[in-house]
Amino acid sequence: MNILLLGSGGREHALAWKIAASPLVTKLWCAPGNAGMAREAECVALNVADHAAVIEFCKRCAVDLVVVGPETPLAAGIVDDLAAAGIKAFGPSKKAAQLEGSKGFTKDLCNEFNIPTGTYRRFDNAKDALAYVRAQGAPIVVKADGLAAGKGVVVAKTLPEAEAAIAMMFDGAFGAAGAEVVIEEYLTGREISFFALCDGGTAIPLATAQDHKRAFDHDEGPNTGGMGAYSPTPFVTAEVHDQIMTRIVLPTVAGMKNRGTPFKGVLYAGVMLTAQGPKLFEYNVRFGDPECQVLMLRMMSDIVPALLAACDGQLKNFDLRWYPEPALTVVMAAKGYPGDYIKGTRIDGLDDAATIEGVEIFHAGTILKDGAILANGGRVLNVCAMGRTVTEAKERAYQAVDRIKWPEGFCRRDIAWQAVETELGR
Ligand code: AMP
Ligand code: GLY
Repeated sequence: MNILLLGSGGREHALAWKIAASPLVTKLWCAPGNAGMAREAECVALNVADHAAVIEFCKRCAVDLVVVGPETPLAAGIVDDLAAAGIKAFGPSKKAAQLEGSKGFTKDLCNEFNIPTGTYRRFDNAKDALAYVRAQGAPIVVKADGLAAGKGVVVAKTLPEAEAAIAMMFDGAFGAAGAEVVIEEYLTGREISFFALCDGGTAIPLATAQDHKRAFDHDEGPNTGGMGAYSPTPFVTAEVHDQIMTRIVLPTVAGMKNRGTPFKGVLYAGVMLTAQGPKLFEYNVRFGDPECQVLMLRMMSDIVPALLAACDGQLKNFDLRWYPEPALTVVMAAKGYPGDYIKGTRIDGLDDAATIEGVEIFHAGTILKDGAILANGGRVLNVCAMGRTVTEAKERAYQAVDRIKWPEGFCRRDIAWQAVETELGR
């Protein structure tokens, strides 16, 4: 088979690594890709936003399957456009991608199908939104309805913070994405990521993970796309797993089918494990980044038949095998991220770091220039490791981090602290 993978982050490097390992694959292209992905596949300089150009490439190169990594092309309807051109693509349709593209859409779906989530209201003007938060009090969560590159959520600890967030969003900080705002109950508990593969009619669970959204150790600093993750998380017990599938994931898949917008692809549930049980706080319609990196390391089965079964509505009797060992990833980012940072700094020591047992390094924002790997983004590398325990995986990953020579980069030092504390019985 010929496969085209769209995207250029750490998530896509991990997907490329896993797809390239499939005996079913004859040729793999990545668009636009990065320096690490160039080791697994041929990178092509396609503009992913130009659907006609993607279709033309697929026809010219006899691409059998397109795998879409990030949410932006999904929300722009690339899967619909490819399907209309007779090209199979893994990922949800534009309408189904609203589960990520509109927070209000998802909250209304939860309401309609009795899916546990925080109480909420949708607003299209600041005046009513302000009156609502003043009546509710803080802490409270203010969310831009649309896609805002991971920045559209303000967890307001105080009323003035909530008021400022409302003003900022209705002032156009996120453009059209903030023209509508969802105000949501603040949920407390452990936050986990739950992934399921969906084929429009059914869903099979992938694996669980925990992400680390804040930039600095002890979960401090600004929110980021994710600074590290591990899988599986001990906090999703068999009972909690069953509750998430039966109360959240399966009703969502059934609800979407019922509404005539069946969901195909990866459903990523952001779940808070509250005292009242698991509650959904958001959906994403793609793999998490960096959670995908640890999922791909742990997936024993060939991924390609699973992607095809999801596209073809054939997941009902499908089975995926996983390595039981945990995997962990540490994100190395350019200093300044998630704010301003510089590009073009040189990274050395990657080959040496990769020789440590159980270690795999996935690239995110990198380019190859004159034989050197240069930083080319905010999140730049994913230093991953497997181990018999999370603690061992963590030790290995940080050993590798310490061999990477990149003075302009930084990382958190406490990835998986919650699981490590649990393992060490603290
Ligand atoms: P997002 O940018 O949508 O990934 O959300 C950023 C973060 O906001 C999440 O990872 C959660 O930690 C937090 N968050 C979102 N919704 C809620 C909520 N209802 N209660 C508490 N925290 C939330
Ligand atoms: N890891 C968070 C995300 O992919 O949105």
